[in-house]
Amino acid sequence: MKKLKKAVFPVGGLGTRFLPATKAMPKEMLTLVDKPIIQYVFEEAIAAGFEEFIFITGRNKNIINNHFDHNYELQKALNDKAKKEELEQTTGWMPEPGSIAFIRQQEPLGLGHAVWCARNFIGDEAFAVLLPDEIMKSKKPCLQQMREAYEQSGSSIIAVGEVEKKDTNKYGIIIPNGELKNNSVRVKGMVEKPKPEDAPSNLAIIGRYILDSDIFKYLDRTQKGAGGEIQLTDAMAEMAKTYEYNAVKFEGQRYDCGNKLGFIEATIAFALERKDLGDDVKKLIKKYA
Ligand code: UTP
Repeated sequence: MKKLKKAVFPVGGLGTRFLPATKAMPKEMLTLVDKPIIQYVFEEAIAAGFEEFIFITGRNKNIINNHFDHNYELQKALNDKAKKEELEQTTGWMPEPGSIAFIRQQEPLGLGHAVWCARNFIGDEAFAVLLPDEIMKSKKPCLQQMREAYEQSGSSIIAVGEVEKKDTNKYGIIIPNGELKNNSVRVKGMVEKPKPEDAPSNLAIIGRYILDSDIFKYLDRTQKGAGGEIQLTDAMAEMAKTYEYNAVKFEGQRYDCGNKLGFIEATIAFALERKDLGDDVKKLIKKYA
């Protein structure tokens, strides 16, 4: 079984669904209450035992690099005022020096292209891909659920969630080989954003993948697909014809923070859960609803 310690975060997209917020600021730095969404997914990868982190970035994304670095002026000010908790929030979660790499995608040609940009840094290991605009809340981290499936099968693993049939045209949808058993099913193939009437299932790909490094051979050959972008789903679908792929149904709550309504829902859910804010937020919701 190939080693699994590297996690890739594609953050090179344009975030057009959040304009004007994303004109100069990366979508991945939008905050749920007070933490950027990229930090939530980073912490998910840490919790699942990953050790090396690769960000695929683009222009206007340098704030992400800064977020994963020290801010000496701020840290000195907090230190001088003995603000321990704030200091912990600033640096306590940071990874060891040398465990993060940033790769410029140069042109936002799609998710498949973003992942392909990591090829020289992955070598022949298996690796995880986490889309930062999908935020998962669960007892056991989504990526940990997937790692356990990987350790059993050694195959590529896709996290899936059930969606309403009318929404299949918003997602990559898997073609399952039978019914789910213990939350898992072998994948025969997948299609990007099928119309509800053409959808092979209601199991949608939800932004977490564990991939064999051979995916790069398929990404090399993948042409532009839906939306004129190089689609990761197209490369995986081609690969699944000869390689084993398994889907794991994620147990937990998923928030699609790539669209406004999903982002607002996540903000409410995370705010309600906070000890320092939850009760007041509930009152506010009552007031406005
Ligand atoms: P999305 O399609 O959700 O992000 O891609 P987007 O393209 O930035 O957003 P919209 O649709 O224009 O609003 C999922 C993830 O893949 C990254 C994005 O940054 C996002 O985190 N991505 C997408 C890249 O890294 N490169 C790309 O070329 C496209």
